[in-house]
Amino acid sequence: MVPKISTLSGYLHEYQKSIANPTGFWENIAESFYWRKKWTDVLQWDFHKAEIKWYLGGKLNITENIFERHLFLRGEQPAIIWEPSNPEEASRTFTYEELFSHVKRFANVLRSHAVKKGDRVAIYLPMIPELTIAMLACARIGAIHSVVFAGFSANALSERINDAGAKILITADEGIRGDKIINLKETADEALESCPTIKSNIIVKRTGSPIDWNNRIDYWYHEEMEKVNDEAIAQEMDSEDPLFILYTSGSTGKPKGVMHTTGGYMVYSAYTFRNVFQYSSGDIFFCAADIGWITGHSYIVYGPLLEGATTVMFEGTPTYPTPSRYWEIIEKHQVNEFYTSPTAIRSLIALGQKWADNFELKSLRVIGSVGEPINEEAWHWYHDHVGKNRCPIVDTWWQTETGGIMISPIAGVIPTKPSFATLPLPGIQPIILNNENEKLCGKSVEGNLCIKFPWPGMARTLWNDHERFIQAYFSQFPGHYYTGDGVRRDEDGYYRILGRMDDVINVAGHRLGTAEIENALNEHPLVSESAVVGYPHKIKGQGIFAFVVCNDLPAKDAGEELKNSLLKGVAKRISPIAKPDVIIFTRSLPRTRSGKIMRRILRKMVEGNTDFGDVSTLTNPDIIQEIQTKVLENLEK
Ligand code: PRX
Repeated sequence: MVPKISTLSGYLHEYQKSIANPTGFWENIAESFYWRKKWTDVLQWDFHKAEIKWYLGGKLNITENIFERHLFLRGEQPAIIWEPSNPEEASRTFTYEELFSHVKRFANVLRSHAVKKGDRVAIYLPMIPELTIAMLACARIGAIHSVVFAGFSANALSERINDAGAKILITADEGIRGDKIINLKETADEALESCPTIKSNIIVKRTGSPIDWNNRIDYWYHEEMEKVNDEAIAQEMDSEDPLFILYTSGSTGKPKGVMHTTGGYMVYSAYTFRNVFQYSSGDIFFCAADIGWITGHSYIVYGPLLEGATTVMFEGTPTYPTPSRYWEIIEKHQVNEFYTSPTAIRSLIALGQKWADNFELKSLRVIGSVGEPINEEAWHWYHDHVGKNRCPIVDTWWQTETGGIMISPIAGVIPTKPSFATLPLPGIQPIILNNENEKLCGKSVEGNLCIKFPWPGMARTLWNDHERFIQAYFSQFPGHYYTGDGVRRDEDGYYRILGRMDDVINVAGHRLGTAEIENALNEHPLVSESAVVGYPHKIKGQGIFAFVVCNDLPAKDAGEELKNSLLKGVAKRISPIAKPDVIIFTRSLPRTRSGKIMRRILRKMVEGNTDFGDVSTLTNPDIIQEIQTKVLENLEK
């Protein structure tokens, strides 16, 4: 097991050590794992070329660190407790021994479909145990998994499959979330019409509803599992061999295939899991995220299982059948650490506090928040009504690209402050830069959050596009990794994340590029251009505000019908989660003489700000008043 910090002085000591001698620090943590061959060099890096390598020459398989390493002590211990969406359906438990057997079988299924080391496997599954099994089976044989969130549309799925060049797709007949059924096979079939690299589509039977069948490529998961045994030797991997790709949104339209490698990600996800949550053997850990996002990868699957934990995997939503669902699960499975998003907390606050107050939640020791800034009201409610004034909140700041938690309290060790992610974890060296690339020293400063030294869990590249990796993260502030976030460091040296500084918005904890949404709107034949910005939203943190200009259609004539058709278009192009909350039609958008849309002004408008700064460079200043009137009308609604 990785070493655990348990006191504030211990944290300060470890932090100092990790800065004075980063390679010695991370070498020591990596010693906790099972390596078939030890590394020859701990780190090589160059932030200008964005080349980062950890544990060079080390050979391992991450699943040997999950299974073989734990079986002797934990074979009988639950690895996964799966809780279905419908509480009347039985939960399912997989011990480490059982999970291992499923993983090996499925590894053999993949091998029987000619999947080899380095091949990409796309996984489009709901929150069912087969999702974890499929990921670990890929890791067992050295295939690179690319999990696509089951809420994404056919277009979004095919775009991701094609970018990765995936050979196999794994999906389900249908998914269940609360009172909704998601037609995954149908969506996957539509996506596969334009995915020539897919040779097999393996389908897990979740609901048993009738589905269309394509004899050429479709296979039932359960039938394939019957054909193989559960002896599957792990593929030897280099530390720097890819483990997975996970697509995320950036400031341009095309999603970015963030690539993580084996050795560093393993060390980092396990280290941060144990320390931030202060996980102890025998605890039950419940992360309520979806595995389709990085939070689920690192803190439902890899971090917990690497540390021999019992991880709860929940198929449903916090409000189905009632807003007590999380609290029921916590009591039913005696959960010790619980991890969710500010949006989930806010939506539960809105439904009334009695739901949480009816439960004692005695087993809970630590509660966590992730994905977006947590406002003070939500922080206090979470602390008082869920944590019952006794559980520390870990407000964890990190990103798909960072692989694991970066700035966060260590539960019960670092004193918390509402809405502050507090201090960097050992090994993490944040730096705040102003727009002129100058370092802002000391306390009480605000600027761009960068990291100046590598850590093992960081992404190594964007799939097939290293140039974009350099451009996106290492070019604005040369020599540093740029997070895209703004941050304030207060008088205590504590970090408070202010939100994205780029054209990325964070809607209900989902990261979306405004350009992606604009592209989807612009596909409509009546739309000539659009601009999308985020605006403060009571529940979702940020809502989506779209300004649309139509071809040959005066803005006053564009009505509900067109709005609905635009919303449908966005859901189809990306996902229902990307649908704008507000659409307004306008004659034109504020533009500079060089033709650029002045989003800064639109952003200020939707924040209710009336001081737009210097507008003298606009070609059409008269449009501002007109747009502003419409914005105000809509914000009041
Ligand atoms: O803006 C930050 C916000 O979420 C972004 C990363 O999104 P994603 O890659 O989807 O990963 C989300 C889960 C790790 C960040 O750039 N963010 C994440 N955690 C926090 C946060 N903002 C404020 N506070 C946080 N704790």
